[in-house]
Amino acid sequence: MANVAILVGSVYGGATLVAEEVQSALENHGHKAELIDEPEASALAREDIDIWLVCTSTTGAGDLPEDLVDLHAELVNAPPRIQSLRYAVIALGDSSYGDTFCGGGKQMDAVLSDIGGEQLSEPLILDAIETVTPEEDAVPWAVELVEAASQNS
Ligand SMILES: Cc1cc2nc3c(=O)[nH]c(=O)nc-3n(C[C@H](O)[C@H](O)[C@H](O)COP(=O)(O)O)c2cc1C
Repeated sequence: MANVAILVGSVYGGATLVAEEVQSALENHGHKAELIDEPEASALAREDIDIWLVCTSTTGAGDLPEDLVDLHAELVNAPPRIQSLRYAVIALGDSSYGDTFCGGGKQMDAVLSDIGGEQLSEPLILDAIETVTPEEDAVPWAVELVEAASQNS
């Protein structure tokens, strides 16, 4: 059993829906999972969380949704002291945006690695051009990741 926290960044609700589906699938598999909106960096020092998932879309030109902007800035400017932070990112985007495709998710992946986090997987990239049901890809990916990581902890 793993205790999972899911940090959500969404503008129009798509990433929130994916995060909620992942949360409920993880709970159905016997894990604990909570969604955190507008997290503060200090939350990442919590020792009761085994795995951090970030589920975020991209807005503007490769930018993070408002929900995660302050967290990202805090992690860059004043990262919290962390003992261990195992994480993975689910990145929603649209490849028609070209170079900024999934820029928000990529920014979160990079900053969590920079502060010493352990990346459990490359980000899951979900392209709005390819799927209108991103949760159908995200749910099995997240369940498999959490099951594997909780066996190796
Ligand atoms: C104004 C706007 C700007 C966007 N900019 C980007 C972008 O730079 N890169 C990208 O990959 N997707 C971009 N997208 C696509 C969204 O990330 C994608 O549609 C996502 O599924 C939206 O999720 P949400 O409902 O959680 O906000 C943009 C969408 C909008 C409406």
